[in-house]
This record gives sequence, structure tokens and C-alpha cells, in this order.
Amino acid sequence: MLDEPREIVNATVMKVLPHAIQARHHLHRHPELSFHEEHTARFIAEKLGDIGVDSLQTSVGGNGIIATVIGKNGSGPILALRADMDALPIHEEGDVEYRSEYEGVMHACGHDGHSAVLLGTAEALCSLRTRFAGTVRLIFQPAEEVAAGARAIVEEGGMKDVDGIFALHGWPGMDVGRIGIRTGAMMASADTFDITIEGRGAHAAMPHLSVDPIVAGAHVVTALQSIVSRETSPVDSVVVSVTQFHAGSAHNIIPARAELKGTVRCLTSELRQIMPERVERVVAGVCSALNAEYKINYRFGTPVTINDESMVTLVREVGSACLGEDNVEHLEWPSLGAEDFAVYLGHAPGAMFRLGTGLAKPPLHTPTYDFGDEPLRPGIEMMTQLALRYLAGASIAQ
Ligand code: NI
Repeated sequence: MLDEPREIVNATVMKVLPHAIQARHHLHRHPELSFHEEHTARFIAEKLGDIGVDSLQTSVGGNGIIATVIGKNGSGPILALRADMDALPIHEEGDVEYRSEYEGVMHACGHDGHSAVLLGTAEALCSLRTRFAGTVRLIFQPAEEVAAGARAIVEEGGMKDVDGIFALHGWPGMDVGRIGIRTGAMMASADTFDITIEGRGAHAAMPHLSVDPIVAGAHVVTALQSIVSRETSPVDSVVVSVTQFHAGSAHNIIPARAELKGTVRCLTSELRQIMPERVERVVAGVCSALNAEYKINYRFGTPVTINDESMVTLVREVGSACLGEDNVEHLEWPSLGAEDFAVYLGHAPGAMFRLGTGLAKPPLHTPTYDFGDEPLRPGIEMMTQLALRYLAGASIAQ
């Protein structure tokens, strides 16, 4: 049984829904790559202005936007809600009527949907202002796909005084009207390495005159796998993937140099911290054994996305009330994908949840993916109710 407030919220969500659908179609038609979200940002800022948010800040950390909706009194906690805005360098192959108008760029990760959900939530919260105390800070973040936008927003004070934060990610393979979440690690850290192996070039028929960087590199690739299989506990999860190996120019020349690049994924900060030493030790040992020199550049990228327990509880409660208990999935396993939402979680407790975009949807980052219109309603309802529940504590009663 749900009481009147939920009906009021639902009526509000239904009122804003057509605007959110329209906004998503516009964003989907005009996708922009990371760091180039100028049109997207202008469009979103304009909509937020029309909606009547209490403050609006543009060009935050590049093309980011921060807006606030202030409740019935100025004081109280600050809750942040975050959406990302950037698209991917993929040519759209789906035949939706709002198909991308730009060659080779599309919203293949559904960030059009995330932004439209947050626009709808902004509008809903504006008309529900009298029902909560405190402030909702809406963060429209650029450059998520290159794991740079969250850091840029935080550096410009985006998380200052924020008490809690929520975000969602559209999830194909999960029915519309369902959400998924887990406490603790939700997504992995994503760090990268560049390895240069310096050998000595020679004629391919005279290998004894060379120090072959291809053979050394092949051993490095193989030996790196032992970090996962022999140095990491079988119950922990680590990924070491070498994703690029460049060397050589002809059939009959042993080159002087090989370049290897790859990524390391972890589910705990502790493991993440010791990985650079492990990787370098293996590279150094193999190269030394094979008489080659090496250079390594290991860069920390996105931290582990760690969902806060009490914020997850809130998502589960709100999800059960809005979507039904059966539609709140407990995710047994985290994903070893990464999400720069993790950066915000270093500044306030929060949680990210998956929002179903359809069981039969193609995977994220593929040419026919489309967030769709259907997930907007549950998305807006979840975000709006999360804000109300977090700030007022009692907006949903059962
Ligand atoms: Ni994404």
C-alpha cells in the first residue's frame, strides 16, 4: 500500500515525462564526444533554465553543468545526483527515428538517457520543492568515457559540502522497471600501462646478433598472466590485459623495439596499490633474463566504485516501494568495467545502481544500442524519490 505522497510524485513524474522523452531524442540525435559536449551542454543548460532551477553554473570542468534545486528552507543536507553527457566514436546502425545525425558518433552508452532522466528529475523536484528540506545538486558531467570528467568536476568544487550522491547507469540485459545494485565494490578500478622493450635489431636470419624485443615481449605478455593466476588469491579478482603489441616492419628484420599497452582492473584499493610493483617486477625480470631493456609508464586512472551500505539500503527501499521488491536485483558480482563515478565516492558516501533498459537490448558500446524511452519513467521516479527520501526521510510511506 502506498500513500498519497507517492501518488503526488507519480503524477509529477508523468507530467515531466514527455519533456524528458523529447530531450532524450534531441540529445540522441546530436551526440558529442568527450570534451566536445558544447551543444549538449548548451541544450541542457537551456532546459534547466526553463525548468526554473535555483542556480545554474555552466562550463564546470569543461562542459559540465551544476544546477541546484533548493527545498522549503535553505538549510539542510546537500544531495548530489549525477548524469554523464558524452557519446562514443561509433557509427549508429539502429533505425530509430531520432538516429544520430553525426557520422561516426552515437550515444552507444546511453548517456542521452542518463541526462534526460536527470532533466526530468530536476523538473519534478522543482515542482515538489515544498516537500523537502535541503538542496539537490544536479551534476551533468562531461567526458565520462575517457574517465576525466568526474575529476574535473570535483577539482572545480563540484562535491564541496555534498553529503551524499547517487547515479544510475542504463543496463541492457535487464528488464525495464528493474534495478540492480550491490554494497561495496560495484565496478573495478581501471589503470593503464605502457611498456617499451628495447632490444637490438638485426637481420632475421642472424638472430644471434639481435636482442629480440618480440620474443621478450611475448614472454612478458605470458608472464604477466601469472600475476593473476599465481600472485592473487583465487577469491580476489584482478584483470591484467595486454591490449596492444606493436613491433616490426618486415618479414626479414628483427626490430629494435616493441611497444606493449594494456589495462589493470581491481576490486579493492589495497590490491590496486600493489599492482604497479608486481607488473614492473615481472617486466624487469623477463627483460633482464632475455637481455633486453625496458621502460614502463604505469598510470592510475579510475578508482574502484565502492557503494556505501546505507546509501544502497536507501536505493533498495526506494526501489522496492516504486518498482516492487521483486524488481530490485541483488547483484552478486561486481563488474570489472570501470566508471568514473568512483571519483565522487571519494568525497561523499553514495551509490550507483543499474537501471534496466530491456532484456533483449544489444550490449552497451555497440552500434545498435539505444537507451530507449521506456526506462525514463522508472529512472526519473527512482531519482526523484531517492532525493525526497534522502532529504525528507519520509516521502514514501507504505
Ligand atoms: Ni556509460
